[in-house]
Amino acid sequence: MTGNAWWKEAVVYQIYPRSFYDSNGDGIGDLQGIIQKLDYLVDLGIDVIWLCPVYKSPNDDNGYDISDYEDIMDDFGSMKDFDELLEEAHKRGIKLIMDLVLNHTSDEHPWFIESRSSLDNPKRDWYIWKDGKDGAEPNNWESIFSGSAWDFDEETKQYYLHLFSKKQPDLNWENEEVRNALFDMVNRWIDKGIDGFRIDAISHIKKKPGFPDMPNPKNKQYVECFPYMSNYDGIDVHLHEFVDSTIKGKNLMTVGEANGVSLKDIDKWVGEDNGYFNMIFQFEHLQLWNKNQNGFTDVQELMKILSNWQYSLEGHGWNALFLENHDLTRCVSTLGDDRNYRVESAKMLGALYFFMKGTPFIYQGQEIGMTNAYYEKIEDYNDVGMLQFYSLERAKGVSHDVLIEILKRTCRDNGRSPMQWDSSPFGGFTKGEKTWIGVNPNYSEINVSQQLNNNHSVLSFYKKMIALRKKEKVFVYGKYEYMDNEQSDIVAYTRTLEDSKALILCNFGKVVLPHSVPIDNGELVLHNYKKVTEAYILQPYEARVYLFKSYAGELDE
Ligand code: GLC
Ligand code: CA
Repeated sequence: MTGNAWWKEAVVYQIYPRSFYDSNGDGIGDLQGIIQKLDYLVDLGIDVIWLCPVYKSPNDDNGYDISDYEDIMDDFGSMKDFDELLEEAHKRGIKLIMDLVLNHTSDEHPWFIESRSSLDNPKRDWYIWKDGKDGAEPNNWESIFSGSAWDFDEETKQYYLHLFSKKQPDLNWENEEVRNALFDMVNRWIDKGIDGFRIDAISHIKKKPGFPDMPNPKNKQYVECFPYMSNYDGIDVHLHEFVDSTIKGKNLMTVGEANGVSLKDIDKWVGEDNGYFNMIFQFEHLQLWNKNQNGFTDVQELMKILSNWQYSLEGHGWNALFLENHDLTRCVSTLGDDRNYRVESAKMLGALYFFMKGTPFIYQGQEIGMTNAYYEKIEDYNDVGMLQFYSLERAKGVSHDVLIEILKRTCRDNGRSPMQWDSSPFGGFTKGEKTWIGVNPNYSEINVSQQLNNNHSVLSFYKKMIALRKKEKVFVYGKYEYMDNEQSDIVAYTRTLEDSKALILCNFGKVVLPHSVPIDNGELVLHNYKKVTEAYILQPYEARVYLFKSYAGELDE
């Protein structure tokens, strides 16, 4: 069925709780902090919160290493706080989706503690244990966080698999008891009344049987090089069983994190009739950024990828739209210009992705144009994956200076610095004396309070985008079409629904550019400059949105 749905009309706001708002002065964001900021989110106009993991965790990977799925991390509060958050969000008409980590647990989860305790423990087979080969690891697989994907257990003399950090052992989805234990847990959360899930690392749950060596294990950034542990044949059996046993028919919002899933499998993953999920986060455009080491250049290449997803899903699937999340750098730093055109480029990037067809996701801080943290010292960093990379590269002899530059450009911590609420110490994130990770010193210029009453702020622009999408259904259900044009820095696309048409026109570059996209008869409904200087000339990073009502074909090329 390709009908209307609440999760298609919704705008989602992603909260990374550690860095959102600290209510008790210990320097760590928490659930009560989120409750205190719910009215800010109401004012912004979002419909759904995606809450990054808040389950009990020793925090090796900031909550993506879960030691108890049915309790709350001490740093964040208690289950009572969670229930209160859910209730307070619902009271305000905001839905809440949880992050669901099913590929692995913490090594401190009781399941793993039992599993590692002896070769014949009943839970031994709940994780992936193998004998070494010729005195070394069972195979050449690399962890997504660098280094071998295997860790040796001294007690039982076997290796266990971890696709992420060694404190995140992979669950063995081939074991039926594991699957049932996970499904029961998921159903208990559904029974609590939450509104859906973002399903973490779900494309990795099936591994190539026999665990043979990979042809090119180091090149894991690229889909074609790590096929043995991403979207591997047979994963559909697990995913169908998961869907049938948990989320099916429950009117939830579901979005799978799907590294390695390409358009050829799209019907299986998000087909409207039988897809596993409502949406997925695809990785194709992220690989483009990786390939260029975040030194992004060609916007047409980006648009080609995004347009492909738009066209391929038209009529039978739904996109998740995003430029930022807790695993990425800040878009204004990577794709825009965070020095000379921060406000303009932050807004332009917003318009560029937000009006495509799909459900838009906004990552905390994106709506005020927060920039990369660019931490200078290795001690400032926290990201378990990047620290692992740093120490392995140092051991190989790569210089500290070279590595710090890579971290400054690509480390996930760039997007994890505390939310900048106002110009008081620590950006108003905490009333305490410290924060778990450094606040970006630019908080005195870039913060919520300074932008709230400024009609030309990035925040006001995001509010207008959200309101516009809510008001005009063409932005939700309209068909997407990319408009080719001769200027490589100009992006233009249209959305069409019955007799209305919208045009999104962006200058992706730092120089003034003429354009030839027809705009006569269009009503300018959103703009990131105070005024249009000349109709057919775009200022640096200018973005305009036009509406053509009673559309009569003027925009045909
Ligand atoms: C996902 C999460 C990321 C985490 C990883 C392991 O990619 O988004 O933050 O490190 O899974 O759970
Ligand atoms: Ca706190």
